[in-house]
Amino acid sequence: MDKIRIRGGSPLRGEIEIGGAKNAALPIMAAALLMDQPLRLTNVPHLADVTTMADLLAQLGVSIRIEGTTGPSSNETPRLLELTARDITKTTAPYDLVSKMRASVLVLGPLLARCGSAQVSLPGGCAIGTRPVDLHLRALTQLGAEIELRDGYIHAKAPNGLVGAEIVFPKVSVGATENLLMAASLARGETVLVNAAREPEVTDLVVCLNAMGACIEGAGTGRLRIVGTDRLHAATHRIVPDRIETGTYAMAAAITDGDIELVGARYDLISAAAEILTQAGVTIRETPRGVHVRRANGVLAGVDVMTEPFPGFPTDLQAQMMALMAPAQGAAMITETIFENRFMHVPELCRMGANINVHGATALVRGVARLRGAEVMATDLRASVSLVLAGLAAEGETTLSRVYHLDRGYERLVEKLSACGASIERIRE
Ligand code: UD1
Repeated sequence: MDKIRIRGGSPLRGEIEIGGAKNAALPIMAAALLMDQPLRLTNVPHLADVTTMADLLAQLGVSIRIEGTTGPSSNETPRLLELTARDITKTTAPYDLVSKMRASVLVLGPLLARCGSAQVSLPGGCAIGTRPVDLHLRALTQLGAEIELRDGYIHAKAPNGLVGAEIVFPKVSVGATENLLMAASLARGETVLVNAAREPEVTDLVVCLNAMGACIEGAGTGRLRIVGTDRLHAATHRIVPDRIETGTYAMAAAITDGDIELVGARYDLISAAAEILTQAGVTIRETPRGVHVRRANGVLAGVDVMTEPFPGFPTDLQAQMMALMAPAQGAAMITETIFENRFMHVPELCRMGANINVHGATALVRGVARLRGAEVMATDLRASVSLVLAGLAAEGETTLSRVYHLDRGYERLVEKLSACGASIERIRE
């Protein structure tokens, strides 16, 4: 298994290109199942999770064409993915793919709406908590689906088609909102989703579905109204920039006392994180090309952070923020409200000299004068990138193992960081 070796201490300087959002690309790719015509997507990031979703869709009968590559130079053709679900030949999402990537469950809504039946493996446990799918299932039942759990699979049927309904989510769920948006687009009549997720990736899915001929109002609010239609049609859509990649590199600039322009980033998507970073002593501002980040006066200050659904501070930046706070002046209280068990980076950061105590869903980070390089292990996608950030700022050498977690969500991470002066390399084993 590959490792990443980092020699810390170099401030990052230069520019980093921000790619398309993984969490927008995955549901939007699944939306191709809703119609027999091509869905052309641009700005699709080249990531392991995108490949897993493409493999799953291919197994279901979707034909996939890829054009171009993404790359640091704007002369390169942007990556284009064309997905055509002319005939769906299978309606089962098997255990091996769903257990590899939980977002596979996003094929449930579209398969059910288009084919009247779907079998999707239950995702099972995952590194950041139990992550059930009860909200997805309950809401699909309200659209008339008959659902049974058998042999580790969700068996869903809607022999007479889905019928619109008012669905009030008891808890905000990104994935359940997305599954329901897709299912309701082909349901008979009107569906209203109350307490829907407002994440920009949900909005991007709405924009794409509307381009495919769906009729959805209320994007970006907690109330989405969908008027179902019989058929959707070919469309082209550009994936929104990745706000988590943006926030991660902003924190990489801050932790190394660097100065970076994040080209292609959108400031409005990261405003909650930008506000927190500003309080911590980081200057972060919008530029014509993206977002510019540098330390304001050389000193990082501890700030308290609580994760919340959008527009609050994202849980997917919690681990990176903790790494940033580890060498800050003063203390930071970091509270995780979205996922249980999302502090697996804490013992690893402590091995690098951080002083962090966890009490339930809150971690108290007492800033230390310096972090020290160590051998550490990646446990999930965002936890592993937080260790990369810590390594960039630490004295000496850090070796990170299990880096396949990073490949799920960060495209060309080593190349992007080394182009800005980081001493980082991937060791192939
Ligand atoms: C998505 C993102 C993930 C992000 C998360 C929260 C993708 C592919 N992944 O995950 O990166 O961290 O949003 O912003 O977009 N829950 C239930 N029952 C359900 C569904 C969810 O109890 O049926 C709970 C979860 O356990 C969690 C909370 O609701 O505690 C939020 O989860 P959800 O928003 O659904 O996250 P995902 O869509 O899985």
